[in-house]
Formats: sequence, structure tokens, C-alpha cells
Amino acid sequence: MARTREAAASDVLVVGGGIIGLAVAWRSAQRGLTVTVLDPDPGHGANQVAAGMLAPVTELQYGEEPLLRLGISSNARYADFVAELTEAAGGLDTGYRRCGTLAVALDADDRAELREVHAFQQRLGLATEWLTGRECRRLEPMLAPDVRGGTLVADDHQVDGRRLGTALLAACRRAGVTLHPSRAATLLTEHGRAVGALAEDGARLTAGQTVLAAGSWSGELPGLPPEVRLPLRPVKGQVLRLRMTNLQGGPLPMPFLSRNVRAVVRGCHIYVVPRADGELVLGATSEEQGFDTTVTAGGVYELLRDAHELLPGITELPLVETGAGLRPGTPDNAPLLGPTALPGLVAATGHYRNGVLLTPVTGDAIAELLATGSLPPEAAPFTPDRFAGLDTPVPLELSR
Ligand code: GLY
Repeated sequence: MARTREAAASDVLVVGGGIIGLAVAWRSAQRGLTVTVLDPDPGHGANQVAAGMLAPVTELQYGEEPLLRLGISSNARYADFVAELTEAAGGLDTGYRRCGTLAVALDADDRAELREVHAFQQRLGLATEWLTGRECRRLEPMLAPDVRGGTLVADDHQVDGRRLGTALLAACRRAGVTLHPSRAATLLTEHGRAVGALAEDGARLTAGQTVLAAGSWSGELPGLPPEVRLPLRPVKGQVLRLRMTNLQGGPLPMPFLSRNVRAVVRGCHIYVVPRADGELVLGATSEEQGFDTTVTAGGVYELLRDAHELLPGITELPLVETGAGLRPGTPDNAPLLGPTALPGLVAATGHYRNGVLLTPVTGDAIAELLATGSLPPEAAPFTPDRFAGLDTPVPLELSR
């Protein structure tokens, strides 16, 4: 650890400069707060791996209706959010595409699963349309002839997570956010209150309010008192990037895909996201094995095996990148937003599979809390205190 030195105090210190931390910083600076972001490489969190699907409806799981409402609220903000961000970032494009999503099934069991999900979506009043296999292939001619049917969700779109990170970083700089390029060594507390963080480079960054936005690492910050329970676990996702060109880099005779495609392939879930710039993102594995980001032969094999069943022509495309990232998972798959048990410490983390989707609503909600002291109603179900009793041991006779 370098020698400790005092840095200028801020209204807000954001620990973690991924897209969530940067959105909170940008929105807070817009409200007149002085903000410092502590991160060795801001803009380069899990967004570097994420496919960037904005898919609250097609990613819906049973029992996640509160999260669905938050996702729909964030999705509805996206067009305005990226327009404002592009302007604030001096014209940087985010790759936002209003392309819709087609979710398809390969065999009879996959079709039965997707039918159930479609019925669930319809009970919730969501705008989804059931299509036959032939109708799916009419929309996406590269789909395998085996595709048995699917749902078309016209409002589930995409954004490029990498471009989003670059734009947020530029917007933060232009809004006067101080970027401190180091890692947090420890949280600083005084008289039972968070007062900032000590950085690994020795800087003491003090602030009126500290925001924990370090993704899967948020619960690992040294100095967090035991009452601040952030039940986070990293969930690894391996992702491949291809180019929609021929092997010489030239154009294909017809578009490879026009919209996001998700699929259940013999019980396994994959998704394929085609970007306007020719990138095709294929994801993702879901692996519970701690802080490991190794790309494995098995992970790549499974993704390509299932993608080949779904889109046989995919094996003709150049494979340009493999990667793995960590989703910050929580016990109910929903984020941790708002005050923690430690005064002065606010959580903006735990976004699991939905970090890119929930960036606008998180930035808005946490900036509102920081500026006014009140968390807006859409974020209220996601405060960390919903897990307050989680560590209380249940007597054996009651747990049976
Ligand atoms: N939202 C896509 C994923 O987490 O893989």
C-alpha cells in the first residue's frame, strides 16, 4: 500500500466504474453533486462481455414479477437515455437498436417449455405473439428447419455494452466527474457512518455518501461492517463474438440475423445478438464457480454445439473473440438498490443478468436518492434490507 494522502472530499464517492457506477455518477453530477469514481479501469466491467440484450420480457422467469416491472420501466427509458447520453458524450453512439427479439424452440420439449412461458407472459398482459416454425423462419431465414415455433417480443431490443461504457465515461468526464484510477483498499467509516474509501494508491477519498457499485466484488470490500449484508455471488458467463461476414471479411449474400434470437435447444438456453456493425454475440453459459473467468473448451463447445443446431450457417462465420464475465447474482435475482444498514453507504449492485437493461433506471433512482434522500417507488422493492434476516439460522425442526 502506498503512503496515505488526503484527496479533495466529494459529495459522492462511487466505488466501481462499470456502467452502473458510471450511470449513477453521471446522473448525480447532472444534479449538481460533486462525484468521484474509484476504479482502475472505468467503463470496463461486465459490460465488456455482456451481449446487451434489453429483454425484460424474454428473460422473464417465474416468480420474478417485481423485477419484470423494474426491467420494463428501464427498457421504456432507453431511447431517451441513449439520446441524452450520446449528446452528453459529444456524439458517441451506443449501438442501441430497436430490433425486437424472437425466442424459439428446437424440439417438442423445448416447444412445450416455451408455450408455458408464453402463457405466463400472456397472463401478465405482456405483448408477445406465438409464431409457428414456418413463421419464425420467414422472419429469420437462417434458422434451422427443425425450429418448432416461438414467441416474437417486439419491445425487447439491444444496446452495445462496450459502446455504452465508452459513452458513459465520456459523459462523466464532460459532466465534471473525477475519475480516480485505483482500486478500493478499504471502506472508511467514522462514528458508525461510511465516509468514503481508502484507495490502493494511498489516496483517502472522503465523501458525504459512498455508493457501492462494484458488481460481483461489492460484498468483498474490506471494511464493510457485518451488519451490511450484501448476499452476492458471481455467476460466470462465457460469451463468443463472431462477425457476420464471409471468411474473407466480405459481405454475406443475405443478412445473417435481423433481430435478437433466444432459443431453448434440447433444454439448453442460448441467445444470439446481431449488431448493426456486423458483430454477432453468442451467449451464454451460466456457471457457479466463484471468481473464475477462464474460457473453457467445454463452454465454447456447448455454445457452438447449440448455436449450430439453431443456426447451421453460424460455423461459416469468423470467430473473433471468446470471453467470460461475472454476473453479480442475488438470492432473488434482483438488484440491491438503496440505503444499506450502514448510514452513508448506498448499494447499486447485484444486477445479475440485467445490468445493461437496468442501467438507466438504476442511474435515475440512485441519483434521486443521493440528491433528495428519497428512493423513487420503482426502486423501493429492491432495497438490501429485504435480506436482513437471511443469515439467521433456522432451527432444524422448523426447516423440515
Ligand atoms: N442477460 C444475459 C446473460 O446474463 O447472459
